[in-house]
Amino acid sequence: MKIALLGYGKMGKEVEKIALSRGHEIILRLDSEDDWDKQREMLAEADVAVDFSVPESAMTNIFHCFDFNLPVVVGTTGWLGQLEHVKQVCEEHNQALFYASNFSVGVNLFFELNRRLAQLMNNYDEYSVSIEETHHIHKLDKPSGTAITLADSILSLLDRKDKWVSEKPENDFELGVISHREEDVPGTHIVSYTSDIDDIEIKHIAKSRRGFALGAMMAAEWLPRKRGIFTMADLLKF
Ligand SMILES: NC(=O)c1ccc[n+]([C@@H]2O[C@H](COP(=O)([O-])OP(=O)(O)OC[C@H]3O[C@@H](n4cnc5c(N)ncnc54)[C@H](O)[C@@H]3O)[C@@H](O)[C@H]2O)c1
Repeated sequence: MKIALLGYGKMGKEVEKIALSRGHEIILRLDSEDDWDKQREMLAEADVAVDFSVPESAMTNIFHCFDFNLPVVVGTTGWLGQLEHVKQVCEEHNQALFYASNFSVGVNLFFELNRRLAQLMNNYDEYSVSIEETHHIHKLDKPSGTAITLADSILSLLDRKDKWVSEKPENDFELGVISHREEDVPGTHIVSYTSDIDDIEIKHIAKSRRGFALGAMMAAEWLPRKRGIFTMADLLKF
């Protein structure tokens, strides 16, 4: 497959390594607005684009791919507030978009565990719930897209919580999502339920960026020739 990389930072380089090891070719690396202006026509040669860029460019990058009829896999986080609009454009123009706030297979198993635990905990009001995430100091968005996905699942399943807040909650109906930034941490997420009697915790620790890049490549290999909007639940068939 011929792959266009949109964003050639830490993740773009990791995706490149995995892509080459699986026999694919990288035909384009766009890493700035300037690169787009000079090289965007090359998108016509690609089979699929993989975007790991910056939150403020993700939506424009996706629309550029749609203009070229190019299926696009998006790992960039921090733009999901615009998802409904992007979905609408994707459907109207019959394009293909695969997005995930976290491409790691392990994290997606963790998402399923989180949902199951929240279902069980709905009957046990004595447990208070919180989420903590830790990432490297260069991460631009806060809380992480993964923590927001965890929080949204809990909100949809736990009747006693109505909204998440990114500080210590002041009201019982708020779910606290606390972020930490430390040197060299690829991504750690903890969901804790605490009562006077005991604590229950589930935790996912990413040991490197390889799991994210591998999941994104699996999505890139799966997406071409499909039309519509997909995410990891479609790929992993949970
Ligand atoms: N979904 C996942 O599994 C997953 C995993 C890790 C990181 N991420 C997200 O992926 C994104 C990238 O992460 P990173 O660690 O590689 O960041 P990074 O800062 O190392 O790389 C981002 C790159 O995008 C480039 N860029 C800026 N404007 C651009 C534009 N208009 N078009 C193309 N490229 C542009 C920058 O020059 C930079 O090299 C972040 O949003 C991060 O949160 C997602």
